[in-house]
Amino acid sequence: MPQRIAVIAGDGIGTEVMPEGLRVLDATARKFALELDFQTFEFGSCDYYLSHGKMLPDDWFEQLKGFDALFYGAVGWPDTVPDHISLWGSLLQFRRRFDQYINLRPCKLMPGIKSPLAGRAPGDIDFYVVRENTEGEYSSVGGKMFEGTEREVIIQETIMTRTGVDRVLKYAFELAQSRPRKKLTSATKSNGISITMPYWDERVETMAANYPEVNVDKFHIDILTANFVLHPDWFDVVVGSNLFGDILSDLGPACTGTIGIAPSANINPQGHFPSLFEPVHGSAPDIAGKGIANPIGQIWSGAMMLEHLGHQAAADAIVSAIEAVLEEGNPAVLTPDIGGQGNTQTLGRAITEQVFHC
Ligand code: NAI
Ligand code: MG
Repeated sequence: MPQRIAVIAGDGIGTEVMPEGLRVLDATARKFALELDFQTFEFGSCDYYLSHGKMLPDDWFEQLKGFDALFYGAVGWPDTVPDHISLWGSLLQFRRRFDQYINLRPCKLMPGIKSPLAGRAPGDIDFYVVRENTEGEYSSVGGKMFEGTEREVIIQETIMTRTGVDRVLKYAFELAQSRPRKKLTSATKSNGISITMPYWDERVETMAANYPEVNVDKFHIDILTANFVLHPDWFDVVVGSNLFGDILSDLGPACTGTIGIAPSANINPQGHFPSLFEPVHGSAPDIAGKGIANPIGQIWSGAMMLEHLGHQAAADAIVSAIEAVLEEGNPAVLTPDIGGQGNTQTLGRAITEQVFHC
């Protein structure tokens, strides 16, 4: 049976990088004899909002829940639709309703990409940030009292459930176990946040007992962010709560260069619902329509999707193809954000051809 993938390009450069993501996936599917069935949806974009008054149709959940994965471009066109409407009305709905409790971002310095950190070469930075994606600090529990008076009080609670904490830790430990270095770093702040963070630490210790091969350490979030910059080579798998993971999952990829190449996954590991794969970048209105967006974030997200769907060799071939094209560094092929004079299509095509050699 073919695996079914829902394709939502979204807005701006999302519609420009998506065809390149699909081009590479098509070629990879041919090479590895994968049966992938793509179905494109127009909703989840600001154009859809302007003609329908909402980002998604009422039955979106029914329409999408049977798919094996969602392949997303980028959403947002702030000139016509406010960002909180476009984002909450689409991506955040998927993350919540499809219980995508893992947000996963690789932080890998690629050949030919200049790290903002001095003296770092490919191989020095190669780790994953695993972010809890459903609870923690981002809760709706709380409220306001005595608003507008001297006694005004504002409360927002952090919610940590044993289920929620254990399942993200389990995912992170499994990932660490599967990697050669087998190292896991936990982000904490148990010196200052004296109830939830000691609980988080306790669950890390309990979980660690199931993974004797995994080397575990932890840092308070403040020094951890410093160490991302000072010693990115220390890390292999880094796991954090929703807030800490949010910060680390922007900082990590930033340490490896341009936003145009960073991929991400929102995963429901048990596969009860489809997981979602998308580049880290947004719709980039400043360059949209020019055909110069870097398609690597989208293409690499496609590799993460194949890995999730069980096609490790195919996923590895895509990542190797990206590395080979970046290593070659032909300015006629590369997009301007990484120093080339090429465009979205020249780069997408070069990676597609390279897949057949990887
Ligand atoms: P952005 O990521 O769209 O752009 C930030 C900067 O990076 C811009 O200068 C842009 O030209 C550049 N850039 C981004 N991707 C690039 C690529 N592939 N190649 C070359 N350069 C690239 O973030 P911004 O401007 O803050 O947001 C624009 C819109 O995107 C907003 O509506 C925002 O809400 C939305 N957004 C959506 C996301 C998503 O769909 N997951 C994530 C981030 C923002
Ligand atoms: Mg963020």
